[in-house]
Amino acid sequence: MPIKVFVAKDYDEMSKRAAKLIADSIKNKPNIILGLATGGTPVGCYKELIRMHKEEGLDFSKVVSFNLDEYVGLPSTHPQSYRYFMDENLFRHVNIKMENTHVPDGLSDNPEKTCKEFEEAIKRAGGIDLQLLGIGSNGHIAFNEPGSPFNSRTRVVSLSEQTIKDNARFFKSIDEVPRQAISMGIETIMEAREIVLLASGEGKADAVAKSLEGPITTEVPASVLQKHPNCTFILDEASASKLTRKAR
Ligand code: F6R
Repeated sequence: MPIKVFVAKDYDEMSKRAAKLIADSIKNKPNIILGLATGGTPVGCYKELIRMHKEEGLDFSKVVSFNLDEYVGLPSTHPQSYRYFMDENLFRHVNIKMENTHVPDGLSDNPEKTCKEFEEAIKRAGGIDLQLLGIGSNGHIAFNEPGSPFNSRTRVVSLSEQTIKDNARFFKSIDEVPRQAISMGIETIMEAREIVLLASGEGKADAVAKSLEGPITTEVPASVLQKHPNCTFILDEASASKLTRKAR
């Protein structure tokens, strides 16, 4: 199945479209297993989901979530840790049970065991129904940087120079950006029954075009999504600007 592409006019429309898709999936399966992403891109989508919870009663009480990744070395109290991000941008504003939320432990003294347990927890839950993704300017998904094997699973990874630069905007200085993360692998992500990737802004246009229209290669990790049976890209105009086929 080719990747379905929706081009929204701007960030706001992209966010609302993604939130509606997630909300419809929750209504359809209240005990859905969601895979969630952090970063700048999904913030608007999470805001809209919070609004739907508060104003329309969207119910997260049975939802289970697994996040894609976490920085190694950041405690959950660090404002840039992904656990902190999820709590602040979604979890504490909706009625999801905190014990049903899973973010890899970046402070684990046995990361290998933590990664294995994370994979086991996904399996025990029944696998991810709907995985939300962003995309790096270099085409990464989660922290699977260019060159990551397609058969990779949750593990400790090193961030590429590009990602360290891209993410420096969230820290006081580039030196504070952690160099490693625990990340779901590409194979872990590909096992999700449905995948939705969000991209916004000109900085993603190259990566989006290569992922959708280029060859499937480990050099562009998101290109592997061409092999997924149920994947949708929700883009804004800017991130879709380098596509040759203008799907709507
Ligand atoms: C975040 C993640 C990353 C981001 C990507 C884009 O959990 O896995 O792959 O989705 O780096 O980040 P933003 O949205 O900040 O441009």
